[in-house]
Amino acid sequence: MRNKLLLTTILGGFLTAGYALTFSAPVADAGGAKNLKVYPKDTDKKVIKKDMKALSKALGVQCDFCHSMAALDKDSEMKEKARDMMRMTNAANKTLKAKGFKKAVTCKTCHNGEKVPKN
Ligand code: HEC
Ligand code: HEC
Repeated sequence: MRNKLLLTTILGGFLTAGYALTFSAPVADAGGAKNLKVYPKDTDKKVIKKDMKALSKALGVQCDFCHSMAALDKDSEMKEKARDMMRMTNAANKTLKAKGFKKAVTCKTCHNGEKVPKN
């Protein structure tokens, strides 16, 4: 009886530790994005999500305009277009900065709430 109690306690301890491990693994994974080609690979997902909200608003679209909501890391034709736009925006800002200009351009500068900017 005493042994049984002891065994339960030990097993209980293992189970708790087991849960702690399996629980902490997905939490750690949540920090890392899997398929970055423009952002530095180790960019925090929180930073990316904040940017994503801003760029969605700038284009007047929802996340699924570019993403498969089941797998945000999966590529799409629209994601590739957006990547080229990110590279173009980054390049423009690098030039502006090098020339001593203070302000930067963003997706909103051109898109202003439209999928395709109005000229
Ligand atoms: C206009 C297109 C576009 C829209 C809209 C968009 N995204 Fe993205 N998203 C991208 C691109 C492009 C990347 C990849 C960036 C790179 O390669 O560095 C990306 C990457 C991500 C990633 C990282 C995925 C991984 O694991 O690699 C997450 C998370 C994400 N987006 C979430 C969102 C959410 C949430 C929304 C809506 C609020 C959203 N995105 C809207 C284009 C878009
Ligand atoms: C200098 C102005 C400019 C900036 C800055 C800019 N875009 Fe664009 N974007 C355009 C123009 C112009 C088009 C239309 C190109 C065409 O189809 O001829 C376009 C088209 C797109 C498209 C394709 C839309 C479609 O329906 O085919 C996406 C996606 C896009 N931009 C995302 C972005 C994102 C995300 C940003 C910010 C990182 C951004 N753009 C910044 C000018 C800009």
